[in-house]
Amino acid sequence: MTPSRLIRPLVRELHAYVPGEQPKIKGLVKLNTNENPYPPSPKVLAAVKGACDQRLRLYPNPTADALRAKLARLHGCAVENLIVGNGSDELLALATRAFVEPAEARCAQCGPPRAGQPCVWDAKTTARFVEQGLSARTVQYFNPSYSLYPVLADITGAVRNAVPLAAGFTLPGLADLRRGGQWDFRAALSFITTPNAPSGRGYCTAELEALCRAQKGVVVLDEAYVDFARENALALALSHPHVLVARTFSKAYSLCFQRVGYFIGHPALIGALHKIRDSYNVNGLGQVAAVATLDDLPYYRRNFRKVIATRERLGGELTALGFEVFPSQTNFVMAKPPRFPAQAWLEKWRARKILVRWWPHPEVKDFVRISIGTDAEIDALVRAAKRILAGR
Ligand SMILES: Cc1ncc(COP(=O)(O)O)c(C=O)c1O
Repeated sequence: MTPSRLIRPLVRELHAYVPGEQPKIKGLVKLNTNENPYPPSPKVLAAVKGACDQRLRLYPNPTADALRAKLARLHGCAVENLIVGNGSDELLALATRAFVEPAEARCAQCGPPRAGQPCVWDAKTTARFVEQGLSARTVQYFNPSYSLYPVLADITGAVRNAVPLAAGFTLPGLADLRRGGQWDFRAALSFITTPNAPSGRGYCTAELEALCRAQKGVVVLDEAYVDFARENALALALSHPHVLVARTFSKAYSLCFQRVGYFIGHPALIGALHKIRDSYNVNGLGQVAAVATLDDLPYYRRNFRKVIATRERLGGELTALGFEVFPSQTNFVMAKPPRFPAQAWLEKWRARKILVRWWPHPEVKDFVRISIGTDAEIDALVRAAKRILAGR
């Protein structure tokens, strides 16, 4: 027997998401995965340590109730507007499963659809498609943006619609999107990374609102980096029933390790996601850590300010060295390096134990993305850049 033949053809053909490297090299300056350079607050560490007791034998709260109650107070919404996930990645995946029809859905009972005799499930799908005028099988996103979206579309067997951003990775205006003809205003699901990754560009809420108003399907505004930005679009999730905002504790709140993210939106959409998540999708220590985080927000707000100050300083220093630096509203900067191709910079920095991120895709291959580290880490990166340029 060939075991691979037991795997669904769609899964056999899939290319898995490629996360940034996590090498264990001593003394490495790791600026490749947008982790926060500052530790969680001492109160969070104490809360997690304090929870390492006999509780570990019990299942955690299935709906992260304490955390949702605190988030509801913070954001001025109801707990029904919130779902917590095993990182926001889990929720992005659930959204794809909940709102998008697989491209080749076949009912196991009825077999392949026959002309004039759609099976009951296909009939329901078609009804949704026709009644709402949706491109029910389309997952749509801008290019470049978070490279997980196409992977999620492929896992679902959906149709991907990757639409180029405008010059300088800015958000195309509605008129341009209409004129361009590629953006699908009927897409079942549209992901918008705001501020954008990997460019770092911030988008203004008024522009996002205009786009959301024009969409018929679900729009997920992925605000993974929003705490480092000037504006956020949370209000859109509470005023438009088809808009969800995604947030995470990974970046601004130094909790990647614990995997906690959440969505805010209309109870009908949030309720659909609750139906299809794992029963205990958020681990207990993660819930404890996230609750303690919300009890110590001033600590994190000080860190946001430090990260932003370091980001602005890095931008200035790289510009002075001849890099073309995009304005950033995140905890990373994207820059086009001088003299050598971006991939060569990746290797040259790596040889000096400094890790940044580079992708081979045509629209971003000329750039490196540098996560904001501590001031000392950024000093090391800039010093190394000066040596590289001096040929040392
Ligand atoms: C744009 C964007 N969204 C979501 C995530 C996932 O975050 P989480 O750690 O909450 O799964 C990332 C992580 O890199 C990201 O860059």
